[in-house]
Amino acid sequence: MVKLISAIFLILSIANGQDSPNIYAGAQRCQVCHETPEMGNQHANWVDSKHAKAYETLLGEDALAIAKEQGMTVLPSESPDCLSCHVTGYNDPNAEFGEKFEKESGIQCESCHGAGELYRKEIVMCDKDQAIANGLIIPKPEDCLVCHNEKSPRYKPFDYDSFYKKIAHTKNPDFKCETDEDEDEEW
Ligand code: HEC
Ligand code: HEC
Ligand code: HEC
Ligand code: HEC
Repeated sequence: MVKLISAIFLILSIANGQDSPNIYAGAQRCQVCHETPEMGNQHANWVDSKHAKAYETLLGEDALAIAKEQGMTVLPSESPDCLSCHVTGYNDPNAEFGEKFEKESGIQCESCHGAGELYRKEIVMCDKDQAIANGLIIPKPEDCLVCHNEKSPRYKPFDYDSFYKKIAHTKNPDFKCETDEDEDEEW
């Protein structure tokens, strides 16, 4: 019985995945709210992290050297073999990209927090359960291993606690969410 139920769930989730694309909005869309001092400016922490430079890395000499070693015939910055871990959404077969999305921004918020087009409205964000229902992910340590694994040509043994410290971006504990408008700022 349990097997049957999980088989049905699997079929439903596959069908669902094919019907609804995951639309990646891009870090600039998150920035508009997540860069204020009241919130805690998570955006600034991310800009200072290597994740924000992950695409740039593919343009560098070390990347070209890896491509040569591996006998690649396309540039790393154009190869799905590299983009899959160095640019948000490129490892997601259901990915679509919003108009502000820039691949040059590398590994952005939505690589860890899920495609954000549906949850990025303030009224949704202020209600954590609703945000999660609209695709927000609160990542767990194992979510990092999608990219931090031995398929990375420059793999460094991954230790969650010490790696997390380098990317930590906490909220301001005094922040209070106040919204009652269904606003979707364009800028
Ligand atoms: C319109 C403003 C706005 C935008 C745009 C926005 N957020 Fe938020 N976000 C908020 C607010 C407000 C909260 C709630 C903070 C609270 O309740 O303490 C929040 C909370 C969060 C949380 C924490 C959830 C929790 O409670 O643990 C994450 C993670 C998050 N946002 C990620 C994102 C990402 C990723 C994007 C871009 C795709 C994004 N946000 C875009 C306003 C926004
Ligand atoms: C979608 C892929 C992806 C995911 C998911 C991911 N990372 Fe990364 N991470 C990368 C890439 C690519 C780099 C290398 C960026 C560069 O230097 O160009 C990196 C680099 C890092 C670095 C810098 C390592 C160094 O050499 O200094 C830290 C720290 C890090 N990641 C932590 C994390 C943590 C913690 C998580 C999970 C919460 C995580 N990452 C999830 C792709 C990812
Ligand atoms: C490499 C993965 C990764 C990236 C990239 C990333 N985050 Fe996070 N984020 C996390 C993890 C892990 C946590 C902690 C989850 C927990 O508390 O269990 C977190 C927590 C948060 C929180 C809640 C903080 C708190 O104190 O409760 C917010 C808000 C947030 N992220 C926003 C963002 C925004 C905005 C961006 C992009 C500018 C971003 N994150 C990029 C992995 C990531
Ligand atoms: C499975 C995911 C994954 C794939 C595929 C991948 N990378 Fe990476 N890359 C990472 C991660 C994660 C890091 C950070 C080091 C680590 O812990 O592995 C990284 C680091 C790097 C670095 C070192 C950056 C620095 O800060 O010094 C270079 C260069 C690089 N990758 C190039 C490439 C190229 C070129 C390709 C394609 C041939 C590629 N990567 C494919 C995940 C990946």
